[in-house]
Amino acid sequence: MQQKEIKNFVRKRYGKIAMEAISCCRSTSTDKALNLRYTEEDLKRVPENSNMGLGCGNPVALASLKEGETVLDLGSGGGIDAFLAAKRVGSQGKVIGVDMTEEMVKKAKETAAKHGYGNVEFKLGDIEGLPIEDNSIDIIISNCVINLAPDKERVFQEAYRVLKPGGRIMISDIVTEGELSEEVKQSLEAWAGCVAGALEKDQYLALIKRVGFRNVAIVSERTSGNCCLIAKIASVQVQGFKP
Ligand SMILES: C[S@@+](CC[C@H](N)C(=O)[O-])C[C@H]1O[C@@H](n2cnc3c(N)ncnc32)[C@H](O)[C@@H]1O
Repeated sequence: MQQKEIKNFVRKRYGKIAMEAISCCRSTSTDKALNLRYTEEDLKRVPENSNMGLGCGNPVALASLKEGETVLDLGSGGGIDAFLAAKRVGSQGKVIGVDMTEEMVKKAKETAAKHGYGNVEFKLGDIEGLPIEDNSIDIIISNCVINLAPDKERVFQEAYRVLKPGGRIMISDIVTEGELSEEVKQSLEAWAGCVAGALEKDQYLALIKRVGFRNVAIVSERTSGNCCLIAKIASVQVQGFKP
């Protein structure tokens, strides 16, 4: 499959989801089991329509955000994690969400305006070529997005570029344990459903280290017990630091 073809399919799928507010990554029982859920408290703190049920973790819960920090959310979707982060960093801090799907960015911007979030900005952009300055971000969060990107090494290189020295990542994503079947890997549907693009866990961690991150570790993990595929899929929350 061509990278362009994958991206167009993914963009179309998430554009439709934004318009119809239907869920994709959470639509099967396996995915539900993998979803490290938001707490009731989290959900009370954010605008209701920002939670589209598309994540596979809760990166903000583990990110140890501090007041005044600048946060970048890769693939911000409806904005749930950006809005949660905005509460933590306060009015002296800032959250930037980047997403390549126009409908998602429009929706998140409307929600921010409607609910008066002055410290959140949503930008249209590709996480393989971030519209963000070098060395300008304290922490990058992301929730179930990097598996959708065809060039994951490029995504991590970009993450490294925009982080300040000493900056960190806290990423929730889907990885595999064992290799997916060729049939699954070639399915655009499975790609957009956060499965076909998932890397093997060790390969995923190795990529993050290869671009320069240090102290790379999985801080939380859930593996699916029942999977129709050759490989198991797992949702992981991964941290790393830019020296
Ligand atoms: C599964 S959804 C997750 C949305 C959000 N993080 C959440 O947890 O609700 C994936 C999102 O990533 C975006 N996305 C996928 N590939 C991307 C890329 N290469 N660059 C920017 N955004 C991307 C999609 O448009 C979609 O909004």
